[in-house]
Amino acid sequence: MTTFDITAIRHDFPALQQQVYGKPLIYLDSAATAQKPQCVVEAIDEMNAKCNANIHRAIHYLAIQCTERYEQARETVRRFVNAGKTQEIVFAAGTTAAINLVAFSFGERFVRSGDEIVVTEAEHHSNIVPWQLLCERKGATLKVVPVDDTGRLQIEKLPEIFTGKTRLLCVAQVSNVLGVVNPVKEIVQLAHAHHVPVLVDGAQGIVHEEVDVQALDCDFYVFSGHKLYGPTGIGVLYGKEEWLEQLPPYQGGGDMIASVSFAKTTFAGLPLKFEAGTANYIGAHGLAVAINYVQDINRTAAHAYEQQLTAYAIRQLSAMEGLRIYGTAAPKTSVVSFSINGVHSSDAAAILDKLGIAVRTGRLCADTLMQRFNLQGMIRASLAFYNTKEEIDALVNGLRQVQKMMH
Ligand code: ALA
Repeated sequence: MTTFDITAIRHDFPALQQQVYGKPLIYLDSAATAQKPQCVVEAIDEMNAKCNANIHRAIHYLAIQCTERYEQARETVRRFVNAGKTQEIVFAAGTTAAINLVAFSFGERFVRSGDEIVVTEAEHHSNIVPWQLLCERKGATLKVVPVDDTGRLQIEKLPEIFTGKTRLLCVAQVSNVLGVVNPVKEIVQLAHAHHVPVLVDGAQGIVHEEVDVQALDCDFYVFSGHKLYGPTGIGVLYGKEEWLEQLPPYQGGGDMIASVSFAKTTFAGLPLKFEAGTANYIGAHGLAVAINYVQDINRTAAHAYEQQLTAYAIRQLSAMEGLRIYGTAAPKTSVVSFSINGVHSSDAAAILDKLGIAVRTGRLCADTLMQRFNLQGMIRASLAFYNTKEEIDALVNGLRQVQKMMH
C-alpha cells in the first residue's frame, strides 16, 4: 500500500472510534454520507455556540463575522473546483436541491413542448426525477443513454441521441451504484459539438476525483457537503456565469432581491439571485473546513490509498462463490456493489449490521439501475480514505457468515 498515515487519519474521525453492538464500527457507507473529521464537528459547534447571526443583513459584529465566513467559504469552494468567479458558486441545500434549481430555472427559460432532456442509465434518483418533473411540466421528452453490462456508459450512442431539440445533458461523474468514473470531459466535448450544454452531478465524483470545472468545460456542476466530509444541508451549484445570468430566480424571498414593491421586484445579482432566505452559513463554513481538511491531508496520497483499497475489496469479493459485482468497467472508484446468489440484500445488511458492519443495501436511490440489472436490490460497500484492509477482511468474513446462515 502507498504510505498513508491511516492511524492518524482515523484518529481525526470521532465516529470511527465507537462500538456498535459491542463491536468496533466498520463504516462502509460513505457514498451515502461520509463521517466528519473533528475539525468540521468543532467548526459547526463553535459557530452554533458563538458565531451566530444572520448574514448579509445587520452590520453588528457577529453578523459581519458570519457574513465574512460565508463569503470566504464561497471563495474556498471556487478555488477547490477552479471556477473563474465566486459569482458562479451558488450555495444550495445539497446536490438534489442544486439539480432542482437548474431543472426549474433552466427549464423555465429554455425548455419548451417537444424539447428533449438527456440523462443516463447510471444516474441516481436526484438526477432523474427533477428532469422527469420538468418534462411533464413542459411537455418535453426524457431520453436515456444506456450502460452496458460492465456499467460503461455507451457514449458512442450520444450522436444518435442528440437532436436539434436536445436542450441539456445530465450525467453523473461517478455512478453511486457502479462506481464507474464516466469520461465527463469527453462527454462535454461531444455534447458541445452538438450545441448541448451539460450538467455534471459530482455528488460522488468530487469525493474521489480532482475537479476543475474550467478544464471540464461543463456548464453546471453540483455536489453535496456531507459526502465530502462536511455538514449535511449544504451543497453547491457551479454554473457558468453566462448561463446563470440568463436563468430566472428559483425561489423568492429575502437576500435574493435588489428592491421590492407591490408593483415590481428587482433581483440581486449573482450568486444571491439563487439564494433566497436565510442561507446555511454554518453549513457553508463547515464545508469550507472540510475542503481545507481534504486538501491538507495530501489528496493525491488519499486517492491512491482509496484506489488500492478498492482493488483489494474487488479481489477479495470476486473470490467469493455466488457473488457478482456490478460496475466492472474501468476506471472505477471506491464504490463496490454486488449481489449474492440466494441472499436478499436486506437479510445480508441485517446480519452484517449485528457484526458492526455498516453497508447500504436495497435499491441504492437508483431503481433504474436495478431494473437494468434485473435485481430487487444490491449490497454496496462504499469506501473512504479512513477505511482499512482489515475492515474489508471483516466484510468478507461477515458475508461468509451471511452465506452460511442463509443457505
Ligand atoms: N445518493 C446517496 C447514496 O448513494 C444517498 O446512498
